[in-house]
Amino acid sequence: MPQRIIMDVDTGVDDSLALLYLLASPDAEIAGIAATAGNVPAAQVAINNLAWLELAGAPDIEVALGAADPLEIPLRTTEDTHGPHGVGYAELPIPTRRVSARSAASMWVDLVRERPGELIGLCTGPLTNLALALRAEPELPRLLRRLVIMGGAFNHPGNTTPTNEWNIHVDPEAAKLVFDAFSAAPADRRPLVCALDITETIEMRPVHLARLAERAGSVPVETVAPEDPSEARSAASNPIVRHLTDAVRFYFDFHHSYDLGYLAHMHDPFAAAVALDPALARTRPATVDVELTGTLTRATTVADWAGMWGRPPNADIVVATDPDRFFDRLIARIGDYARARCPGDPAPERIAAEPG
Ligand code: BDR
Ligand code: CA
Repeated sequence: MPQRIIMDVDTGVDDSLALLYLLASPDAEIAGIAATAGNVPAAQVAINNLAWLELAGAPDIEVALGAADPLEIPLRTTEDTHGPHGVGYAELPIPTRRVSARSAASMWVDLVRERPGELIGLCTGPLTNLALALRAEPELPRLLRRLVIMGGAFNHPGNTTPTNEWNIHVDPEAAKLVFDAFSAAPADRRPLVCALDITETIEMRPVHLARLAERAGSVPVETVAPEDPSEARSAASNPIVRHLTDAVRFYFDFHHSYDLGYLAHMHDPFAAAVALDPALARTRPATVDVELTGTLTRATTVADWAGMWGRPPNADIVVATDPDRFFDRLIARIGDYARARCPGDPAPERIAAEPG
């Protein structure tokens, strides 16, 4: 039986891979996609998801638009990390479908109420819309089967300020509301938290993209490199592989520009994999809270591992995994899906330019 899952995303290069991973997973059924403002504005997030769904030949999965702004502060976006439209150098076809008539928060509430205890939540963006849903339905933690959150940094530096992870930084009030709400939930409903401590060990490299292309039967199998000019575009015959290569190459360039190597941290697809199969991760319970007032540390996630606050754990933080196992699964699933869904598009305008 496929597991029903609601995605809440700020797509985003790595959110794009999370979406493709779930589409490609026979054990997943995406019940809806909440478009949350973060990497790019919510409307662009919705367009990106609709575009990927169409490109990937997916069914008409509902995409619901989230709030334009975080709960209490202005929106900050990060086009320098994810490209001008959030999908790196990729230029996705303009989608023909439109967003749902209901809001992202309403979709969350309706979906959890529909089948109590069945739905898995996966949040790979700021927690704005989940927080709005929790305000509307305080029982949501009990109605969900499981929640997986990509966010936070615990015994690890931040990626936005010295102590802030991006998703929490964009809407710290929402993040606090979510962790507070789960404080009252039973232990088996505690969110699984994939923070930077673990997601920065999930390093995608050009060889992973090449293996994915090979698995998809896409030609030519390309190996992107830091020397590639920014205006270069993939000529891969498979449209999923082609657009993915253009998207991820931007993310490689971004990480490279910060001296992290020619690689990209695949935060969100890892969280997606954990949402489907928690056995991929080893976790440790902790009480998580979000700093809202620090002059230097606002939006920092703090984990009390030892019960010093005298409050029961409200999260299970992922502390270990096997990145190779994850990448093998990602390559096999997305590669096979791309081969089956989008066989042989000759990308004529690019191939025509090649000699011979
Ligand atoms: C998170 O921030 C975003 O830029 C990524 O998509 C990921 O969800 C990592 O901090
Ligand atoms: Ca994201």
